Amino acid sequence: MEIRGINPPRSRYYDRGQFGRLFPGLPPFAADSHQVREALLELGKKGGVMDPGTTDPSKNPENPAKLSAGFTYLGQFIDHDMTFDPTSSLERQNDPEAVANFRTPMLELDNVYGSGPIASSHLYDASKPGKLLIDAAAPRDVPRNSQLRALIGDPRNDENVIVSQLHVAFLKFHNAVVDHVISKGGVPRGEVFAEAQRIVRWHYQWMVVNEFLPHIVGESLVKDLMKDDCHNRCYRWRHEPFIPVEFAVAAYRFGHSQVKGGYQANTTFAAPVFDITLDPSLPDPNDLRGGRRAERRFVEWKFFFRMGTDPAPNLPQIGQRIDTKLSTVLFELPFGPPGLPGASPASLAQRNLLRSLAFGMPSGQDMARALRIKPLQADDLADVKHLNLDRSTPPWFYILREADRCEEGKRLGPVGGRIVAEVFLGMLEGDRLSYLRADPDWKPFLGRKPGDFSMGELLRFAGVA
Ligand code: HEM
Repeated sequence: MEIRGINPPRSRYYDRGQFGRLFPGLPPFAADSHQVREALLELGKKGGVMDPGTTDPSKNPENPAKLSAGFTYLGQFIDHDMTFDPTSSLERQNDPEAVANFRTPMLELDNVYGSGPIASSHLYDASKPGKLLIDAAAPRDVPRNSQLRALIGDPRNDENVIVSQLHVAFLKFHNAVVDHVISKGGVPRGEVFAEAQRIVRWHYQWMVVNEFLPHIVGESLVKDLMKDDCHNRCYRWRHEPFIPVEFAVAAYRFGHSQVKGGYQANTTFAAPVFDITLDPSLPDPNDLRGGRRAERRFVEWKFFFRMGTDPAPNLPQIGQRIDTKLSTVLFELPFGPPGLPGASPASLAQRNLLRSLAFGMPSGQDMARALRIKPLQADDLADVKHLNLDRSTPPWFYILREADRCEEGKRLGPVGGRIVAEVFLGMLEGDRLSYLRADPDWKPFLGRKPGDFSMGELLRFAGVA
């Protein structure tokens, strides 16, 4: 008899909107037992192997490639563009065939556009056709209702100030592109929104392929995969792209390791990501959690991205090295994401590890072999030997350790890199409206240097930098 969520589904292909698997033939890294759950809770606990227990940079160093801290949150923003399962809970059986991804698995900014100006009219400005809503009374914040809930396409984009401010930047980027389309002329009034949305999406997608992805997986892997005619890829689908659990539950959670314990948000305000000692009923706590915040908490983007001008000393801030250490604040999350009952562990590491078990995910070693990559040796994982996890390692932990061992924590290693890059590129190639499918030779034109575009240029064009 099959137990839902333990046995991988037989087919690798799923219909649109569902999660699925890249390696359906591989066994789970461990059977779901009390003993294994205890080992994972031990590995991910506060004060355990993954917790530096301090903000001392020698115990949890910065990225040696000097990847700026904004890319951590751009990564989170992109995640929210691709994945959304509002019903998820650790307590429910997690069968990828049964778990719907309510976000279309594409890079198309549906976290910003919702279902468009008609179906999601609350996200749009009724007095400025084609534009997204900005609150005239609080123009630097995301728009909010009378109870201060963010009026945005994905509630997760209000989880912290940095991702929430990125959301504002994308709203303003779209509105600036609407002005650009109108000022250029030649587009009928009724088509301005659609044309602006296409230009926004294509610039965003181009920036993801040419700036974000090379930082995360290395330029040569992106180039190799783009040359490839797909035969060597592990990510394939039948009708339309789906989100593989190996991506959502393991590889793309690498970003948790890049999060710093705190940030300099602007010239005068620095704070921890969240401070659980603060009274949660405070209207404007002295940390970087999301929600309605005083203007003095808002970010100045030169602290997060290179803006193409001479940087001030020590700017932008650098994100953390990609390795098996998470900033110590992440072991005591003060909140659950929407849909997660309070019973979920407060440690983000424990949550990620338990999810791998609940989804019956293969070990990092098995995924490496399936990709014809030499797996890490037991020596590389000696610190989890006492938990019996050194030979069949939970994939999220494996991918972080691999980044550390193979790439000095600058970027993902061979298994994590392949999964992340293949999913991003495959998703774009599967979207008939993406620039990569519709017009692969298309070049961006909104930056100061035609043919080139970056996150810094996007922020500049949006008028927020
Ligand atoms: C302060 C920063 C962040 C916090 C507090 C945070 C927190 C969380 C939490 C609580 C979950 C649900 C865990 C579970 O119960 O399964 C989650 C899921 C996830 N996170 Fe993060 N995260 C952060 C940044 C990031 C970044 C930078 C990335 C990637 C670059 C990322 C990628 C993901 C992915 C892929 C998932 C699973 C799918 C989803 O629910 O979105 N996160 N995160």
